[in-house]
Amino acid sequence: MKKNILTGIRPTGNLHLGHYFGAGQNWLKLQDDEQYDFHLEIADVQALTDHFDDPAMVRKNVYELATDLLSIGLNPKKVHLYIQSQIPEIAELTVFYSNLVTMARLYRNPTVKTEIKQKKELFGNEGESVTYGFVGYPVSQAADITAFDGELIPVGDDQLPLIEQCREIVRKFNSIYGVTLKEPEPLLSPTPRIKGLDGNDKMGKSLGNAIYLVDDEETIHKKVMNAITDPDKIKKDDPANPEICMVYYYHKLIKNPNLETVCEECKKGHRGCVQCKKELITKMNEFLEPIREKKKYYDTHPEEVKEILQEGTNHARGKAKETITKVKKAMQIDY
Ligand code: TRP
Repeated sequence: MKKNILTGIRPTGNLHLGHYFGAGQNWLKLQDDEQYDFHLEIADVQALTDHFDDPAMVRKNVYELATDLLSIGLNPKKVHLYIQSQIPEIAELTVFYSNLVTMARLYRNPTVKTEIKQKKELFGNEGESVTYGFVGYPVSQAADITAFDGELIPVGDDQLPLIEQCREIVRKFNSIYGVTLKEPEPLLSPTPRIKGLDGNDKMGKSLGNAIYLVDDEETIHKKVMNAITDPDKIKKDDPANPEICMVYYYHKLIKNPNLETVCEECKKGHRGCVQCKKELITKMNEFLEPIREKKKYYDTHPEEVKEILQEGTNHARGKAKETITKVKKAMQIDY
């Protein structure tokens, strides 16, 4: 029996290099591992918890995200790529599970807590900005996971409290209604957080430091030219410390075959930052080019993308129906 791997991603924007090196690369490996059955959910209902007032944005990003994911090399023959909102069983499970978790426990969830704080800073008034749907999204995420018997959940460490909450819901369900659901385990990415070229610990859309997979050559040029280097290096031939330089960090990420030379020349003061940035721009474009090509292909074949999503959704729905049948039987609501 194959193990079920499941993860989700919110359709709120294009994928950037932080996604790629933090998660995508790992997904590409997992899809090729024969011991796993891989479900990848485009979590549009979850995106709506924050963006219920902008449905057009979410809809557009469902397709953007799907084409981005296909463009980095996710293979629909190996990964079930599906849209959360098209699986009504997830919504049903969410309702059933909502009795198994207290409001106090939800408010204690560290991820929810942090996000409430952010909302407060943004909107001022907690009471008016924190919806029932938002506070309850860990319950909905537990439904995402258990609907497909998710066993291993590849995520970044910010998601650990949500997996823990899902495990609690599963245990409670099983103890009340009889053993029905599987307890998932997180599968932490080896590189969960990718630094921004601006030196920030994290690359993120909201931090304004993201390099998108769809960025064109001119944009890449501009962004790399602004990258933070060793601040003590003033002149072109000053020796510098590559370990605190974002340009070097990205040479490493992109796997520049020339990496040792970059490092040695930098340390000896034999390489100016402008030259080094130009080399990174070339390498980054070489890395992005095949992704851009595929993206162009899918952007001009939207019907193919829709078909892939439809097939993935049909398959996922089959599995979710099996789960809901078991769940309703256990809860004695199988009329
Ligand atoms: N909450 C996740 C995020 O914001 C996305 C997500 C939705 C997810 N459903 C999931 C992750 C199920 C893992 C499992 O990144």
